[in-house]
Amino acid sequence: MSTTPLLALTGVERSFALGETRIHALRGIDLTVQRGEFMAIWGPSGSGKSTLLNLLGLIDTADKGRLMFDGQDVASLSDNALSDTRNHRIGFVFQSFNLIPVLTALDNVALPLQVQNRPAAEVRQRAAEGLERVGLGQFMHHRPDRMSGGQRQRVAIARALVINPSLLIADEPTANLDSQTSREVIDLIEKLNQETGVTCIFTTHDPRLLARVPRQLKLQDGLISADSYEDLPQVATTKAAA
Ligand SMILES: Nc1ncnc2c1ncn2[C@@H]1O[C@H](COP(=O)(O)OP(=O)(O)O)[C@@H](O)[C@H]1O
Ligand SMILES: [Mg+2]
Repeated sequence: MSTTPLLALTGVERSFALGETRIHALRGIDLTVQRGEFMAIWGPSGSGKSTLLNLLGLIDTADKGRLMFDGQDVASLSDNALSDTRNHRIGFVFQSFNLIPVLTALDNVALPLQVQNRPAAEVRQRAAEGLERVGLGQFMHHRPDRMSGGQRQRVAIARALVINPSLLIADEPTANLDSQTSREVIDLIEKLNQETGVTCIFTTHDPRLLARVPRQLKLQDGLISADSYEDLPQVATTKAAA
């Protein structure tokens, strides 16, 4: 297996124009994420979590600094290559689930494979397997608008993972869920991380969800204020060598 980190950021900055002023959402991020990591980004509202996830998910680009995805500088990729990487290698989960309410769970999960123009039989089979994997085999033909929040988020996780991505990005996946369901969703993501080796990065503002997550990155005012792997360098080294 390649030892190139999946993500390597150096000096990454991102700011937004707000009238006459600029908001410095990220003010210099240095971060390396190895394949297979399971990481939570936490910190107060406005600290830059979503901005960072959007950069890691190749939805947005940095103003300064460098972001390497799997050894490639993303600034050197064409728009086509960027969207190709997104469509084949990155799965996204959002706090509001972003499912299409009038489609069945199966058809929602099938969408990313249809975007890839996969044959219909393959699409159907992989979408069904994806729902089984998140424990929703019985609900394939149900519509998300008839499902609970926890079930909807599991459909969204199945949809994100159906392409067998290298990276799963989840922005506040539990923000609309009660605490018990939130824990179940994080447990599910952890299980899928262990089973498939997909690198998983999620954000939360709930410190109670961090206990089971091996790597915790805290953002404050657009900077990393704590990284549990840097506090425990031997863990980072062991992971990197694996
Ligand atoms: N598209 C945007 N336009 C203007 N300001 C933005 C935009 N996106 C984020 N910001 C600002 O950047 C800062 C960080 O936002 P965000 O990354 O969403 O934080 P978090 O996800 O931690 O709550 C905030 O001050 C926010 O208002
Ligand atoms: Mg956010």
